[in-house]
Amino acid sequence: MTDVSSRGSQPGDEREVLTNRQGHPVYDNQNQRTVGARGPATLENYQFLEKISHFDRERVPERVVHARGATAFGYFEAYGKWGDEPIANYTRAKLFQEAGKRTPLAIRFSTVIGGRDSAETARDPRGFAVKFYTEDGNWDLVGNNLAVFFIRDAIKFPDVIHALKPDPVTFRQEPNRIFDFMSQTPETMHMLVNVFSPRGIPSDYRHMQGFGVNTYKWVNQAGETKLVKYHWMPKQGVRSMTEEDAAAVQAKDLGHATKDLRDAIDRGDHPEWELVVQMMDDTDHPELDFDPLDDTKVWPENEFPPQPVGRMVLNENVRNNFAENEQISFGTGVLVDGLDFSDDKMLVGRTFSYSDTQRFRVGPNYLQLPVNQPKGATVRTNQRDGQMAYYVDDGGENPHVNYEPSITGGLREAQYPTEDDEGPEIRGRVTRKRIARTNDYVQAGQRYLLMEDWERDALVDTFAGQLSQCERPVQERMVWHFLMVEDDLGLRVGERLGIGPDAVAHLEPLPGQTLTDEDRRRLGNLG
Ligand code: HEM
Repeated sequence: MTDVSSRGSQPGDEREVLTNRQGHPVYDNQNQRTVGARGPATLENYQFLEKISHFDRERVPERVVHARGATAFGYFEAYGKWGDEPIANYTRAKLFQEAGKRTPLAIRFSTVIGGRDSAETARDPRGFAVKFYTEDGNWDLVGNNLAVFFIRDAIKFPDVIHALKPDPVTFRQEPNRIFDFMSQTPETMHMLVNVFSPRGIPSDYRHMQGFGVNTYKWVNQAGETKLVKYHWMPKQGVRSMTEEDAAAVQAKDLGHATKDLRDAIDRGDHPEWELVVQMMDDTDHPELDFDPLDDTKVWPENEFPPQPVGRMVLNENVRNNFAENEQISFGTGVLVDGLDFSDDKMLVGRTFSYSDTQRFRVGPNYLQLPVNQPKGATVRTNQRDGQMAYYVDDGGENPHVNYEPSITGGLREAQYPTEDDEGPEIRGRVTRKRIARTNDYVQAGQRYLLMEDWERDALVDTFAGQLSQCERPVQERMVWHFLMVEDDLGLRVGERLGIGPDAVAHLEPLPGQTLTDEDRRRLGNLG
């Protein structure tokens, strides 16, 4: 009897024929070629070798952080105004100018610490990265859901991430390693009060805010600059989960947030966020008790009122997870005319890190992939070749000229958008210094006081639960910090750990720590 599995498709089957990557038809996809039915396999079987060796290379390295995520597509619609004024008074970025103007975009939400298949119920900040495909090329706004960050200088990023990632020996996320690092890094207090509150487990990706976190600049036609912060406000509202809710969801589904987003878009319930912007003059603002370039701080809304500038609607799901979610690549260096960097010490480090990791993770030609290519602007470079070069950029009328300058054709430089192309004058000694106004506790305390009672209870519970797994010196230093943040927080967490203020009164401020008068008053009250 003939074995049907070793036969080609049946007559009358109208489906497209399977081929290999060389375009050769595949006659048998079930059986390798062997010498006799039970004999050794042959090596000239190109189809089998191509299939297996491509499979062997199916994975690229996952992102070193934010490995688990979900991507969707949609559009941004501009309001054309900042408050009552034309937005052109502040930025010349084209996507913002005209009320009703739509710019296509991609967004990727993510968790930070877990691997590519980890649970989306983790207590963790959430990533909120938006790629606007503008007519001037791409703009990426790469933020999170908690408004602030753990550290204020990029040089500490590998350390904070190592402390939060699993132990290199036990491969367990260890509270003692996390709080060992945090207890020695007081600038983390504001972020910790957020991450360990119920906001640290958003119910899904649709019900959370997004924040650019770092300070950027807007530039208008006259070259005048303002400092700005970006915030995304969900029309769906903000919802969080308790640890009990999260445990129940996680028992059944590791990817509930990806599913929630996908299902909502599929059923036409398109999620929406409003983009609001805070602005201040582009100076160092000595009148403030914090530095506007410090990403561990928020800008008080009564002094710097957020103004809506547009809305984002998500209406399309990815067609393929690998091509569009795994390979999408965002970076803080990806700006368009009218938007600029500030000297925020995190931002400059981030800007190097993203494209550096993507050249390694996805490959040197990652910007040729459809999801990363600009859609509103044409790419013409003299960059050539490299692994996986997919096409040759349009080199103008003479394709022999892949260099510049040239008198025989090729590409020319663009003209500056304004006459004044000079940056600001900057003077200073080359140095390594903390910023002057660290003020690590005040905003953490304000955040604690703004919480509802149940949120404060949950925060105290979570801190106490985590710290009970830590060594005594780490617990004591954390209680000391919490007393500096707000008496009530320090007393309550301390009580749960059996550590009163007198037990931490002997602790000195950390080396190099700059204390405010209020910090000194609290220190004086200890014990
Ligand atoms: C992803 C570095 C701070 C938000 C990443 C990745 C790296 C990185 C290497 C992986 C990128 C990839 O493989 O495509 C850094 C460094 C930081 C920093 C060096 C500090 C100096 C921050 C901050 C935020 C943030 C403050 C939030 C405001 C994100 C997001 C992603 C990400 C949302 C995921 C992007 C995606 O979905 O593909 N970061 N990061 N990062 N980071 Fe950061």
